[in-house]
Amino acid sequence: MRISSVGMPFLDYHKSSMLNRTLISASQKNDADIFSFKGENENSGLSEKIAIIPSVNKTGLEKNIERQLGVNALNTQVKHFKNGETYVNIDGKIRGKDVYIMPASGDNVNENLMETYLKADAAKRAGAEKVIAVMPSFYYARQEKRASGLNEPIAARLNMDLLKASGVDEIITVDLHSASIEGFAGNDMPVTNLESMPVMLEYLKSKNLKNTVIVSPDTGGVKRADKLAKAIGCEKAIVYKYRHAHNEASAETLIGDVFGKNCIIFDDIIDTAGTIAEAAKLLKTRGAKDIYVCAAHGLFNGDAMEKLQNAPVKEIIATNSVKPKKDVIDKIKYVDMSSQIAGAMLDISA
Ligand code: R5P
Repeated sequence: MRISSVGMPFLDYHKSSMLNRTLISASQKNDADIFSFKGENENSGLSEKIAIIPSVNKTGLEKNIERQLGVNALNTQVKHFKNGETYVNIDGKIRGKDVYIMPASGDNVNENLMETYLKADAAKRAGAEKVIAVMPSFYYARQEKRASGLNEPIAARLNMDLLKASGVDEIITVDLHSASIEGFAGNDMPVTNLESMPVMLEYLKSKNLKNTVIVSPDTGGVKRADKLAKAIGCEKAIVYKYRHAHNEASAETLIGDVFGKNCIIFDDIIDTAGTIAEAAKLLKTRGAKDIYVCAAHGLFNGDAMEKLQNAPVKEIIATNSVKPKKDVIDKIKYVDMSSQIAGAMLDISA
């Protein structure tokens, strides 16, 4: 197990007196390895006020949140009927409490969503005061508009509607693909959209990079890149990405100067890693020095690891918003979002 603690005091906009928060950035091979932090709060008394419904295979993120809040998750069973239907059963006191549903951590996103809907329904029916879905990675966020034609769904909106219909009152998420998705929740369903940027920044500080430029790997991510560039006080560049087919990205051209500079590509999601690999190749052809990548949601599907291994990037920094994959390549580092999420939970319930 290899963990490097950055030891950064947490952002003070949360109720910092409740937690002795410390951020941990981890370089690991296994989700369990991220499970290391300071800031336990075992006598918080929060168990009287909140209940946590865990995922089936508790992730390091969840364990960290539980320990920081001093609240043990309820025993929860998830089973499946032979035809695939999901069955949920929660053991413990729920009536009158704020109930937090932790992100389901299975490999199938649709199944994870169904699990969340059923847990919310169960909690509401058991008398929860409020049901809060913790969804660091908000599924279907990339389908937030009818991008290429009229006969398409707006799946992000549908997901929000289904969450609401199943009894969810609030959502905690991280780096929403598009902030406009918050609008789908309406004005009666608060969405806390946490940023990965402060945690990324803290990690990047340890790299002591000079002569840096922040790169958005597509036009959709310009605002995100702009924010990081402002926080660091450096220039930004933009890759013009084009998708010739589903899951295929090509970096067509670059706006900005990266010659001889250290580049930090900042994106929200790495899925197949096509976007990152193509952007990195283009940056190299334009004379970039070292290339780092930051992205909140490291999904790493298909041959993503291979692409990243072969891409001219030095390090890829992701958060544990989704359960870290086993056997990730050495270039991939994880930073922990548990302090931010625990802080948001305190803001809601403490
Ligand atoms: C797209 O707009 C997103 O911000 C990401 O750039 C995209 O989801 C990455 O996908 P992939 O890794 O499959 O290229």
